[in-house]
Amino acid sequence: MSHDTIAIVDNGGQFTHLISTKVRNALKVKTVIVSPSSDVSELQGVKGIILSGGPDSIHEEGSVRINPGIMDLDVPILGLCYGLHQLAIHYGGDVEGSSFKEYGFAKLRLEEDPIFKGVPQDDRVWMSHGDKVLGVPDGFVRIGVTENCPVAAMSDAKRRRWGFQFHPEVSDTIHGSEMLENFVIGICGARQGWTVESNIDEIVERIRKEAGGRKVLALLSGGVDSTVVAALLNKALPPGQTRFIHIDTGLMRKDESSSVAEALGGIGRIDLEVVDASHMFLSSLEGVQDPEEKRVIIGRLFVEIVNDIASDTKEDDWVLAQGTLYPDTIESGGTENAAVIKTHHNRVDVIMEMIQKGQVIEPVKDLYKAEVREVGEQLGLPWDLVHRQPFPGPGLGIRALCQDSWLIHTTMEGIQEIQGRVETGIREDEWASGKVKGLVLPVRSVGVKGDARSYEHPVALWADEKVDWPAIKLFSTRLVNRTAGINRCVLMVGLKDVSTPAPVERFITEERMDLLRECDHVVMEGLKEHELYDSVWQCPTVLVPVSFSDGEMVVVRPVWSQRAMTAEVSELPDEFYEDIIPRLLALPGIDSVAVDVTSKPPGTIEWE
Ligand code: XMP
Repeated sequence: MSHDTIAIVDNGGQFTHLISTKVRNALKVKTVIVSPSSDVSELQGVKGIILSGGPDSIHEEGSVRINPGIMDLDVPILGLCYGLHQLAIHYGGDVEGSSFKEYGFAKLRLEEDPIFKGVPQDDRVWMSHGDKVLGVPDGFVRIGVTENCPVAAMSDAKRRRWGFQFHPEVSDTIHGSEMLENFVIGICGARQGWTVESNIDEIVERIRKEAGGRKVLALLSGGVDSTVVAALLNKALPPGQTRFIHIDTGLMRKDESSSVAEALGGIGRIDLEVVDASHMFLSSLEGVQDPEEKRVIIGRLFVEIVNDIASDTKEDDWVLAQGTLYPDTIESGGTENAAVIKTHHNRVDVIMEMIQKGQVIEPVKDLYKAEVREVGEQLGLPWDLVHRQPFPGPGLGIRALCQDSWLIHTTMEGIQEIQGRVETGIREDEWASGKVKGLVLPVRSVGVKGDARSYEHPVALWADEKVDWPAIKLFSTRLVNRTAGINRCVLMVGLKDVSTPAPVERFITEERMDLLRECDHVVMEGLKEHELYDSVWQCPTVLVPVSFSDGEMVVVRPVWSQRAMTAEVSELPDEFYEDIIPRLLALPGIDSVAVDVTSKPPGTIEWE
């Protein structure tokens, strides 16, 4: 059975994904996220359209424009925030650009309308906007008003168009879920029934169609996504049509490659070919410091190896299967209005060319991690495999920051100025003043600020008293948000005194990967021993080339997340740190231990 679908037009807003997951998970209706410039053919057959919010002001030059053909489709459309402004402009209404911005709660007085069925007349809604609609277009009526918005909601029952200035998708809008349900189910008439189980049948069908008679090569890292893809391929295709390959990149965790085959025993019918390409990866990364360059090199090498393996098969006779997830596409700038934060290894140019040629199948590309895990459970994969913490495709290659003498030189320029700002920020903070000391680290990491990439400095913090984790987390986000030039904070836990760190030249080498493997092993084992592994969503361990004495720094980054698009720091018990810190400091090459205390945004989960 094919599912009814709601299309969400992504105007670049923060909540596009939230709209999508609300419709999928709460209402059990399938969604697709499309770009505003999409051809109408991409929206063929959808039951309704939701236009998301976005950061632009509609009258500004270069603001996101929607393909008018989408607006003219004969299906119900609901515009939210910027989407409301798009509707108003399209139909000849009046939108005012305003320097007055409204964030937070507002009281909505509403008129009777099918979209407000079951919603009390005075409702609390959540706003985040600058522009507002002053006059409704012909054919529309005003159905909601707040103190600041003369048109907080409008509708045109004949053309089946609705628009809200507020955000029904956030839980702060008390009856937002009812409004979305009224639209999706009541107005669009979408049939519910999109469940993971039914989704599996659809994915299997799609794999068969996309693969046709071609051989399918799948790379298996041992992580959740590629394992679930392998199980789906097994379900969809006869033995002999698939080839499963594990590439040892030299950037894997301790004993990872040797245990992958064993772990995959549970999924049946997997004949794993293991390729040791560690030398190739390590030598290609020699002397490379730029994180994006590393990702591109790693992504290309994967393709080169696959091409080599497939060289006995004609190009038209094989396809590559990969476990790309939804956020990978979005964060790699895969949608028109999203900035490139990181080019995920499965989105590098050579792969994009293969995608264009129809040579790649991505069975779980519309799903979030949590949904992939549900698919894995439904397919009967072992619990441990399905619930492994995520591990990035480029592996430890993006968890060892690199820098050469030129980068060190440019990094040191201007660092004093940033240090001054950090000190002011600490002094002026009510909680931190007198309690916390901070030093800008002479190294740069990747972060995400205001939907854009940042490549800036971390700050090392020392707290005088016993660590107040909730307070330090809040403070570090405050400090980063208010201070230009920094994008994350780490709390020093394995070096008691404030002392000056020196930048050191470091690259990816086998020895350094061995050191990182050991560090990661200590942290992973510690999490398991303290029964914390499942309460942490992901916990990267990162080597940072700054030295306090004779080694470099190791950073532990435990986070909780749901969709990897945002993350908060997991607070782990002191006993865990008391246990792992001496073990980390005992490793030759490590001279300090820190815990990353920044949420995402402004930090990203990984440091590169
Ligand atoms: P960031 O660091 O952007 O990461 O907050 C979000 C999630 O994506 C993972 N990640 C990757 N996964 N290839 C992957 O397969 C990549 O290039 C890549 N980069 C980051 C990261 O581990 C986290 O779960």
